[in-house]
Formats: sequence, structure tokens, C-alpha cells
Amino acid sequence: MKRLILIGMLLAGNVLAEDTRQLATLPPAAQESLREEMLDNLIQLNEILGLMAAGKVKEAGVLAESSLGVASMGRHRAKPVDARPGPHMPPAMHGIGMDGHKAVSEFARVAASGDRDKAMALLPNLTSACVGCHAAYRTR
Ligand code: HEC
Repeated sequence: MKRLILIGMLLAGNVLAEDTRQLATLPPAAQESLREEMLDNLIQLNEILGLMAAGKVKEAGVLAESSLGVASMGRHRAKPVDARPGPHMPPAMHGIGMDGHKAVSEFARVAASGDRDKAMALLPNLTSACVGCHAAYRTR
């Protein structure tokens, strides 16, 4: 039995090592812009969670909207097309990103009311798209 479990774990490890996510081929400059945006996403997310934990619900909403919500879209617009991640993504991948911004804005709208319970209930809106996209796509 123990051996079977071990074999199962090794097989699972192999499947993971294979990385079955779809490859999205982005030009190097776009990949660099995306990575910068991603690193910033995680910092902002951490700030928003900190504000929520401190009961600063309205502040969390304001930061969520400006950093991850619909208001944050188009930050690469002024760059040459080679450095813009969006246009090089498969449409479904781009769609996950846009839906993610909209989901954050939904959280932000509720947080703006200051209702902590309602905002808490929408907290997963902040990370669902992160997880969805990372689980389905890779760029290298
Ligand atoms: C539409 C797809 C998509 C969404 C949505 C998305 N990511 Fe990413 N993320 C990527 C891809 C692709 C990479 C790999 C970039 C690379 O290295 O080329 C990545 C990489 C990262 C990295 C690693 C950066 C590094 O190289 O150190 C972090 C951290 C990250 N994402 C955080 C987040 C967070 C937090 C969210 C949600 C708020 C998020 N991402 C939403 C696609 C996405």
C-alpha cells in the first residue's frame, strides 16, 4: 500500500513536471512588461489584504480599483506594440485578464460602501483571475 502511494506520487510529479499549460508566445519586451505588472499586482494585493484586515474597507476599495480594477487597464497603451502584453495573448487568456479587472471593480464598488461583511464575501474576486490564468497559461 505504501509503495502504491509512493508510485502514485511519483506519477503525479511527472505530470506536473510536464507542465501542460498552454504556451502563450509573447515578444520579449511584452513578457518584460507583463512580469513588471505581475510583480506589482502581488504587492498591491498584499496592501489591499492588509487594509481589509485593519478594517479600512473603503481604503481597500480605492486601492483595489486604482491598482487592479478596470481603472488600471491600459497601463501599457503608450508603449510600442511589441511591449504590450495584451495584443499578443490568445483571446481566451486576454479575456481572463479583463474579467479579472471587472471582478476587482465589483469588489471595489462594494468596499466603497464601507460594508466589511459584504466586501469580505467578495474578497476572492481579487485572486480568482490570477489563479485561473496561471493555471491555464505560461509564457515560457
Ligand atoms: C491573463 C493572465 C494572468 C492574470 C490574470 C494574472 N497573471 Fe500573473 N502571470 C501571468 C503570466 C503569463 C506570468 C509569467 C510571466 C513571465 O514570466 O513571462 C505571470 C507571473 C506572475 C508572477 C511572477 C512574476 C515573476 O516573474 O517573478 C506573479 C507574482 C504574478 N503573476 C502575480 C499575479 C497576481 C497577484 C495576479 C492577480 C491579481 C495575476 N498574477 C494575474 C499571467 C497572469
